[in-house]
Amino acid sequence: MNPLNLPSRTAGQHGPLPDFLPTGDGVADITPVVAPTGDRIWLVTAFDLGRAVLTDERFSRAAAVAPEAPAIHPMRPDPAALTSLDPPQHTRLRRLVNRPFTPRAVAALEEGIRRQARRLLAGRDRIDLVAQYAMPLSAATICRVLGVPEAEHARFAGLADRALGVTTGTFEEQGPARDALRAYISELIDRARRDPGEHVLGTLATAYDESGALSHDELTALVELLLNAGYETSIGQLGLAVVSLLEHPEQWHRLATAPHREAAAAAAVEELLRHAPVVPMSFTRVARQDVRLGTVVVRAGEALVVSLLHANFDARAHRDPDRLDLTRCPARHLTFGHGAHTCLGAQLARTQLRVALEELAAAAPDLTPRTPLPSLHWRQPEAVVRGPLTLPVNLALPRPEAATGRRHP
Ligand code: HEM
Repeated sequence: MNPLNLPSRTAGQHGPLPDFLPTGDGVADITPVVAPTGDRIWLVTAFDLGRAVLTDERFSRAAAVAPEAPAIHPMRPDPAALTSLDPPQHTRLRRLVNRPFTPRAVAALEEGIRRQARRLLAGRDRIDLVAQYAMPLSAATICRVLGVPEAEHARFAGLADRALGVTTGTFEEQGPARDALRAYISELIDRARRDPGEHVLGTLATAYDESGALSHDELTALVELLLNAGYETSIGQLGLAVVSLLEHPEQWHRLATAPHREAAAAAAVEELLRHAPVVPMSFTRVARQDVRLGTVVVRAGEALVVSLLHANFDARAHRDPDRLDLTRCPARHLTFGHGAHTCLGAQLARTQLRVALEELAAAAPDLTPRTPLPSLHWRQPEAVVRGPLTLPVNLALPRPEAATGRRHP
């Protein structure tokens, strides 16, 4: 069933989505729905209205994480997390972690990401792009930003994989793994408090111990958010982007053979983010007062979610939205949200995706899937982040003798 008129290719090809059931008569831009949790919420599906809602301070994140607030996912957000705060607490905490995510700081990471991408692809003619490419790249990048020692990147990746269900496991199976990941994060924080160093972990530990700029709960929740959000989103987004490109081999070929591959990849990244957003829904917000949105009134205490996916396919904001067009200019989207909570890691995510695609295009202009795309397995619909669990590909065309079934003498 596709009750909310989701873009059919996106809904069908890119894994399951939360199954919202419309109640009553939906209107064009905002629809009352029942979430998989059974809670009633408003779903905003229009681009302009979505942007307006995400910048409107009458809609609160803090009120949306209260125990009685309607939810769309089974997992309750941590009330001390950056994502759960309203200004001025939100502004204070966000300032503490802004610096390593600025374009300048991210540019300094690019060469390291590129070297690792090349290493991961070198000498191979086939690879699982999730487990053997996206995961190690994403783990190393976010661990470097936070200051997790290199020798522990694989340990973090394994723990986070099981806790978040990136390549395996159901939501229920993730419970004990989440505890193990939390224990590891506490260990990282304790070490950073003893020996701060220069990375994010050290900066935050010092802010906690010396200036009291954040509480212990905020410190733990922030490190957990940065590591988890930084890890699983980049993996899912690279997987979704490559699936989109494999569905459109002519566009992959054009990207792979572009004379200015870096510029072509930068444009392609924006369109891929629009067409296959890894986070399809915003977090919920709760109205602090009655708010009129077009023809409906959202009452105080009611919850609302912006479907970033629908907004990205809104025909009033994008010409021919179903079409993947890597040269679309500008490819506007709400994939990183908007307003005060707009994604802190957007620049880092864009850089990782661009470099990962550039290096893949250089190493594998003839990239082909090794599994028919419709039979790929996807993350569970209750996950906040979507993406394929595995993505086996050939980096080189199968050798003629293999293709004809002949063997070497
Ligand atoms: C393609 C990859 C990514 C996508 C599509 C994405 C998407 C988003 C979205 C939609 C939001 C806002 C949700 C809302 O307001 O309802 C968000 C917030 C956030 N993201 Fe990302 N994200 C990505 C990668 C990253 C990375 C690499 C980091 C690195 C640490 C990160 C850290 C955060 C944080 C900390 C917030 C909360 C910001 C706040 O509440 O002020 N994200 N992200």
